[in-house]
Amino acid sequence: MKSKLLVATLFGVGLSFGCVSEQHDVTLTANLKETGPLLHKDIYGQFAEHLGRGIYEGIYVGPDSDIPNTKGFRNDVLNALKAIKVPLVRWPGGCFADEYHWRDGIGKQSERPVKVNTHWGGVEETNAVGTHEIFDFIELLGADAYINGNLGSGSVQEMAEWVEYMTSDKNSTLANERRKNGREEPWDIAYFGIGNESWGCGGNMSPEYYTDLYKQYATFIKTPPGKKPKLVGSGGHTEDTQWTDVLSANIQQNMDGISYHFYTLPNSDWQKKGHATEFDNDDWFATLERTYRMNDYLKANIAKLDKNDPEGKIGLYVDEWGTWYDPEPGREPGFLYQQNTLRDAVVTAVNFNLFNQYADRVHMTNIAQMVNVLQAMVLTDGADMLVTPTYHVFGMYKVFQNATAIPFTIDSGAYQQGDKQLPAVTASLALGTDGHVYLALVNLDPENDASIELNLSNGNFSKLTGELLTHDAITAKNTFSQKEVVKPAAFSASLNDLTLPAKSVLVGRLQ
Ligand code: AHR
Repeated sequence: MKSKLLVATLFGVGLSFGCVSEQHDVTLTANLKETGPLLHKDIYGQFAEHLGRGIYEGIYVGPDSDIPNTKGFRNDVLNALKAIKVPLVRWPGGCFADEYHWRDGIGKQSERPVKVNTHWGGVEETNAVGTHEIFDFIELLGADAYINGNLGSGSVQEMAEWVEYMTSDKNSTLANERRKNGREEPWDIAYFGIGNESWGCGGNMSPEYYTDLYKQYATFIKTPPGKKPKLVGSGGHTEDTQWTDVLSANIQQNMDGISYHFYTLPNSDWQKKGHATEFDNDDWFATLERTYRMNDYLKANIAKLDKNDPEGKIGLYVDEWGTWYDPEPGREPGFLYQQNTLRDAVVTAVNFNLFNQYADRVHMTNIAQMVNVLQAMVLTDGADMLVTPTYHVFGMYKVFQNATAIPFTIDSGAYQQGDKQLPAVTASLALGTDGHVYLALVNLDPENDASIELNLSNGNFSKLTGELLTHDAITAKNTFSQKEVVKPAAFSASLNDLTLPAKSVLVGRLQ
């Protein structure tokens, strides 16, 4: 018997459930002449916080290190990140942002104050990486900057002066201080966040109180003409929609987007989230079921935006997302180091397909986090490094950066467990900036393949060629002794005979 589940598409939602089968029959229908929203490159952004070994060791080892580096940033990690075309880096936090005072991170490194990183392990923060260093890193990557300001424990003056220091082209004292510290030209800031998680670590505020503070802080963010970053209001998380509602109803100017955070735990218990690499098919389903809640949460927040901002001016920026497991035994729990398996790769593709689906509002997201923290792209061990299954999915999806979505409907099959069900397959379809049509497919089901029928009008294609990421074991991972256990393989298939293996991610070009 064939399974049937119609899922949300770019233009609507229709759900009908059937029963489980050995192979899913999936049909994707699209008119290739139709166009949907831009899939902004920043949907594929990343987050680098002063947390654990994310910045120090992970990306920065200092210019005197034996580890080959450029301006103190390790070359191996830089090269790996360049290869997946990281478009945007959010820095310095996170919770850290609301305790960060930018003056601690400028001037001679040896004279910078040493602070305590109270959020993350209580370790010493040397401030060796500050404003100049992070912009070096971002420029070496060829990415854009998302700087997160301190609203929680800073002041309006401090935030305004930081922005002037970074962006002014005048002979102001602050701009000249930047020049004296080695940077003649102002930097470009693509996004500037006004606080982070202001409902929690950013100050335990109500959305109404934050709204007033936001207006005050945003008023004093001043830049030279044409240099104003997109300003980001600190929004809600998980099922909450109140922050999106209150902010979008009450902030009529100076806000380009509202942040939103949602972490995927295998279960809902923050004390016992689940193991990163030891899990069974039930945990796999539970993880994907929770990650797919992003669909409902995005819809609910977008409904608030549609109500308060019918012209669609305000974006929904998912500037923290990803898996969050129990800390690895034997490591500092506050460092949030976790391994990464094929399950994380599938989680990534499921989220990318959702972000692309809602790209009318979702213009920017940041996975948490880039290196050595939570759902990382790269793990390091001294001079050694490896790339994770998640890294590979970012690499495969880079063809969607700045692509134009092609609307489609999908009859996706049902991946069931007990009385719960998920779509077996989700997808992205878009016209890339190179003029080619790209299709991404992910099979959430760990056991059953999917037969894919493409019902495409206004296009003459016979083949799909690209890369497939899968493995026999759901727990497959890359380790320092075996770094290439999970990696993409070349894929090519006739459109008349297209099978998507169980637990796999496929990105290909129609030919
Ligand atoms: O990404 C780790 C932390 O999770 C961030 O600092 C914070 O914003 C969120 O709670």
